[in-house]
Amino acid sequence: MQSPDSATTTLINNLNTALVMVDEHLNIVYANHAGEALFETGTKQLYGHSLYEFFMPGSIKGSRLKAALRKGEDFTENEIRLCFRENRFVQADLTVTNLQTEDGPRLLFELRKIDQQKRISRENQQNAQHYAARELIRGLAHEIKNPLGGIRGAAQLLEKVLENKEHQEFTQMIIEQSDRLRNLVDRLLGPNSLPRLQWSNLHQALEKVRTLMRVDSETPVTMVRDYDPSIPDVHIDQDMIQQAVLNIVRNSIQALSEAHTPSPEIRLVTRVERQMTIQGKRHPLVAKLKIVDNGPGIPPTIRDTLFYPMVSSKQNGSGLGLSIAQTLINHHGGRIDVDSHPGHTEFVLYLPIDRKESLNEQ
Ligand SMILES: Nc1ncnc2c1ncn2[C@@H]1O[C@H](COP(=O)(O)OP(=O)(O)OP(=O)(O)O)[C@@H](O)[C@H]1O
Ligand SMILES: [Mg+2]
Repeated sequence: MQSPDSATTTLINNLNTALVMVDEHLNIVYANHAGEALFETGTKQLYGHSLYEFFMPGSIKGSRLKAALRKGEDFTENEIRLCFRENRFVQADLTVTNLQTEDGPRLLFELRKIDQQKRISRENQQNAQHYAARELIRGLAHEIKNPLGGIRGAAQLLEKVLENKEHQEFTQMIIEQSDRLRNLVDRLLGPNSLPRLQWSNLHQALEKVRTLMRVDSETPVTMVRDYDPSIPDVHIDQDMIQQAVLNIVRNSIQALSEAHTPSPEIRLVTRVERQMTIQGKRHPLVAKLKIVDNGPGIPPTIRDTLFYPMVSSKQNGSGLGLSIAQTLINHHGGRIDVDSHPGHTEFVLYLPIDRKESLNEQ
């Protein structure tokens, strides 16, 4: 195939539309950046590989595609549901075009994620929820601070009388976590609650959450790590991100244990996403963190109001976990998405990587 000049390549790679080209055997021969993002993998893993490898068995109509190739027929389908392996679903509009190249016939797929448009209205709705939540959190933060001081004080006293010094690890943990929570509450309370950003490794925060959850939870849940080690450092407040992730992971653990899910599992997946619009702003590079559990799914009755404060299906739940998580992620100019059905719940956090200057503008 003729290789495009660099200006054309730049242009193609900056498209929001995913372009993927396959040969007559339905092996992938080209993908632009949006195409790589759609498949959640790089060109190395894509090129030469069959389309079938990436989708759930039976979800690709190979005969239809081959017929389109044979007859040179182009077609468009709206709102199709792509079922990738690993239980990932993407809604998209699809256009398939036949191309004749020097190397033979090709099919060009143009895929436009629908969620992108739907998301924007959902994003606005979420933001409205978020502002309501903030007011409430401010009120509640005062209530949280008082007992927190008590807990910290008690842990300090306990530490003094502990005979076995090895147990100090636990009192230290209570003190550390109380401090972290107090810091968080202080910042949520204050009018100037911008995060304290540092360029740091996202995986560090995740590892802390994992360690904490191991100590914290009684249910044996398998935590699977699927990290992309090449993710660049992100400009984040470690405490805040840790807290947001913790709130989400804790929900998963609670859901898994309440439902007595067999082989309960939580997956932490990190990837890099290119060309994303968040809060009306376009970012060339975004860190994507997925927290997936194989639990019962979010009850349909609360799906639409999930991020409201006080929305909870639990008897003793305060319904603040997700609303706080959203505040924290919003502070980073990021976004949270949810997709849930029985057996599969995923929360996806997006954090812009390239926002050093833009944050100062706020
Ligand atoms: N992974 C999940 N699986 C199933 N349901 C979930 C999951 N995550 C959240 N939920 C539902 O969303 C509700 C709201 O979660 P949120 O963390 O905001 O509040 P909570 O967990 O009920 O209370 P809190 O976090 O304040 O203790 C939960 O009560 C639960 O019904
Ligand atoms: Mg919770």
